[in-house]
Amino acid sequence: MKILVTGGAGYIGSVMTRMLLERGYKVVCLDRFFFGKESLNEVFSNPNFKWVKDDIRWFDPIILKDVDAVVDLASLSNDPSGELNPSKTYDINYLGRVRVAKLSKEYGVRRYVLASTCSVYGFQEEILDENSPTNPLTTYAKSNVLAEKDVLLLADEKFTVTVLRQATVYGLSPRMRFDLAINGMVLGVYKNKKIPVMRDGKQWRPFVHVKDTSKAFITVLESPEDKVNKQIFNVGSNEQNIQIFPLAELLKEALSLPFEIEWYGSPDKRSYRVNFDKIRSFLGFVPSYTPKEGAREVYEALEKGIVTDSLKTKTVEWYKHLLETHRLMREVLLKDTIL
Ligand SMILES: NC(=O)c1ccc[n+]([C@@H]2O[C@H](COP(=O)([O-])OP(=O)(O)OC[C@H]3O[C@@H](n4cnc5c(N)ncnc54)[C@H](O)[C@@H]3O)[C@@H](O)[C@H]2O)c1
Repeated sequence: MKILVTGGAGYIGSVMTRMLLERGYKVVCLDRFFFGKESLNEVFSNPNFKWVKDDIRWFDPIILKDVDAVVDLASLSNDPSGELNPSKTYDINYLGRVRVAKLSKEYGVRRYVLASTCSVYGFQEEILDENSPTNPLTTYAKSNVLAEKDVLLLADEKFTVTVLRQATVYGLSPRMRFDLAINGMVLGVYKNKKIPVMRDGKQWRPFVHVKDTSKAFITVLESPEDKVNKQIFNVGSNEQNIQIFPLAELLKEALSLPFEIEWYGSPDKRSYRVNFDKIRSFLGFVPSYTPKEGAREVYEALEKGIVTDSLKTKTVEWYKHLLETHRLMREVLLKDTIL
């Protein structure tokens, strides 16, 4: 079975690609490599692995020939990055991904899985399941809601479409992200003995380990089509809905280190508690990792120098840097032309 993973060099994609290859799948990674290719260093020599450097907005669909399933991960992957240029966010996260889904169907791909997010629920008091109304508060979340709706409309008996609304992910990846809550807290402890906590700390978030969310995608790919077609699943577990301040306390226990709380930001408007019964009862999906384990593995990787705190690990900072470099290059080129 051949699987095309868009965004396959990213935080989740680089972990998922390894897991897919380990299970004997052929994998094609389609990515702009905004964060480089190093995250895939271990798999380049694998004969079952191929990569294409291209953009989901304009790639040549011929690469979809003979592909059995598409996992669509490519996007500007968080709320702040989505606000850098909202119209580009819509182009990539909404229209780009719908383009991938439409072309997949046209080229006879049997299955398509969209990487969405629990942040489509925005701020809501009650515990939310897949039938709850969405309340997207940011361009990132709104683009996800639009993409979900359009890709689900493409589903039929020959084209199985599944939407996975992932909780906030944590844990170690070859493309490390320290802009995610748990990973960022661990970095704060490692660097300054201070744990950054976004105000007011009462906001709820669901969490899932990067290997567990990758496992959820693989579970969907391996489930009978009629069980997953036209379905939305929240990806995570009820036990891993945690408020941000208690989360800091939990990590304190996990790392057994002294640290202070460092409050930042204005009170977070996004707060949501999510119900994960559906993925558990329909697909038997149960996460294997806990935030404590994830925090310990990230701390150890920092100590051993396996991961470092570089600009690339802060998604929005890195995209800002790329945009600025691009602007400066254009200015230089223009000057060259004038000369
Ligand atoms: N990490 C999380 O906590 C989380 C939670 C919920 C949902 N998600 C979603 O899961 C997906 C993967 O997230 P991630 O954490 O791995 O993000 P990431 O930023 O690490 O990876 C995204 C990858 O997509 C690529 N990409 C971006 N725009 C592209 C384009 N136009 N064409 C081709 N490639 C492009 C980037 O180069 C990058 O390798 C995203 O859609 C994200 O919104 C992530």
